[in-house]
Amino acid sequence: MVTITGLVLAGALSAAGLASALPPKVGTTVVNPNLGPGKVSLKQLRNPNYRFSGPVSIYKTYLKYGVAIPDELAKTVASILGEAEVKRRGTGSAAAIPIDTDDTAYITPVTIGTPPQTLNLDFDTGSSDFWVFSSHLPTSQVRGQTVYAPGKSTSSSLLTGHSWSISYGDGSSSRGNVYTDNVTVGGLTVISQAVETAQQVSSSFTSETQMDGLVGLGFGTLNTVTPKRQLTFFENAKLSLESPVFTADLKWHASGTYDFGYVDPAKHTGNITYVPVNTDPGYWLWTSTGYSVGSGPWVSQNISNIADTGTTLLYLPNAIVTEYYKQIPGSSNSRIYGGYVFPCSTTVPSFTFGVGSAKITIPGKFIDYGKVTSGSSSCFGGIQSSSRLGINIFGDVALKAAFVVFDGHDKPTIGWADKTL
Ligand SMILES: *[C@@H]1O[C@H](CO)[C@@H](O)[C@H](O)[C@H]1NC(C)=O
Ligand SMILES: *[C@@H]1O[C@H](CO)[C@@H](O)[C@H](O)[C@H]1NC(C)=O
Ligand SMILES: *[C@@H]1O[C@H](CO)[C@@H](O)[C@H](O)[C@H]1NC(C)=O
Repeated sequence: MVTITGLVLAGALSAAGLASALPPKVGTTVVNPNLGPGKVSLKQLRNPNYRFSGPVSIYKTYLKYGVAIPDELAKTVASILGEAEVKRRGTGSAAAIPIDTDDTAYITPVTIGTPPQTLNLDFDTGSSDFWVFSSHLPTSQVRGQTVYAPGKSTSSSLLTGHSWSISYGDGSSSRGNVYTDNVTVGGLTVISQAVETAQQVSSSFTSETQMDGLVGLGFGTLNTVTPKRQLTFFENAKLSLESPVFTADLKWHASGTYDFGYVDPAKHTGNITYVPVNTDPGYWLWTSTGYSVGSGPWVSQNISNIADTGTTLLYLPNAIVTEYYKQIPGSSNSRIYGGYVFPCSTTVPSFTFGVGSAKITIPGKFIDYGKVTSGSSSCFGGIQSSSRLGINIFGDVALKAAFVVFDGHDKPTIGWADKTL
């Protein structure tokens, strides 16, 4: 008899061979039948096993962006993941797993093949591969994930001679071969989507037990399929959408919504300000016009950055981050935790950023990521330095404060609007 403690740390765990004992995947896709053709609305599902850890979050962002992991952070992450593992086996005493934040990870169900196989995927504007856990993976690399089995789909077809490979900052990689198959997202089917099936996944994905793969929503230049790059789901779906756009309405401590094909006026309050996107590097790269900390003065400054739904935190230039934490007494940049921490007894200031002449304010509570470890009096900051990344990233911390339109017309733009928070 297997006991699941429930203390499963995302990016940490580890329920090897226990698939049948995992809690059922929750929730349903919301498809609004009244939307009409070319429009799809999808609600995220809460990942019930996810527990946020600041150090693990920074570590995963470094992996994704190919940054070498600093030694002290590597040690801390190993110890957090190690304790989660001990806890899972039921052999540990009270482990220092951070469980004191409500913030969770969200996944979105997608069906592949005929008959449909449903996988829970992460919609990621910071990459351009549609890759999934597959029946070709060694069982040692699958810990509760649902795998796509192309052999069980009558509509799958091997894309002969093609392969994909994504490398991470610790030297590991995920890779495999490529099939085409029908992919359905909330009632919208793309026939012959390139589905990149994993034959190997990096351990950081194996440990995310409820995440079965990624839906890359970046631009084609980032797609890793060789010898011929493949189109993303959005690039393929565009033709069938009423308007070539998708929107992210991500929420603080709640499930958000992705809409494809239309901009829902009910999801924002203020006007939407659209600014140009430079698609050359493959990201949704745009330039913010400045910032202010709390009620402090406005600073006009061009801050080039990427909007990445697949990154949790907001990564900004060192000078801005330093200025932000100057407003929080007792805060410090912790080498052990890999980023800024502050006393949990403090209230953190809001952060405002510019979009053209408009401004979006992230409430302070969105920037408080809770205790670094359970029982600790230090809390983890949602704003962190981009100095190691070499690129500023507007992750979920920033995206949750707005209604964001990813506009894929011939000259792509990104639009930001206020909404009810
Ligand atoms: C998949 O596509 C094929 C056509 O290639 C179609 O016959 C089949 O019904 C589709 N299956 C689903 C589940 O949409
Ligand atoms: C939105 O834009 C319109 C037209 O430019 C303007 O009249 C209105 O004041 C704007 N609303 C807000 C909330 O900024
Ligand atoms: C930001 O960039 C624009 C376009 O290059 C330039 O006109 C503007 O002066 C810059 N603003 C600042 C504050 O540097």
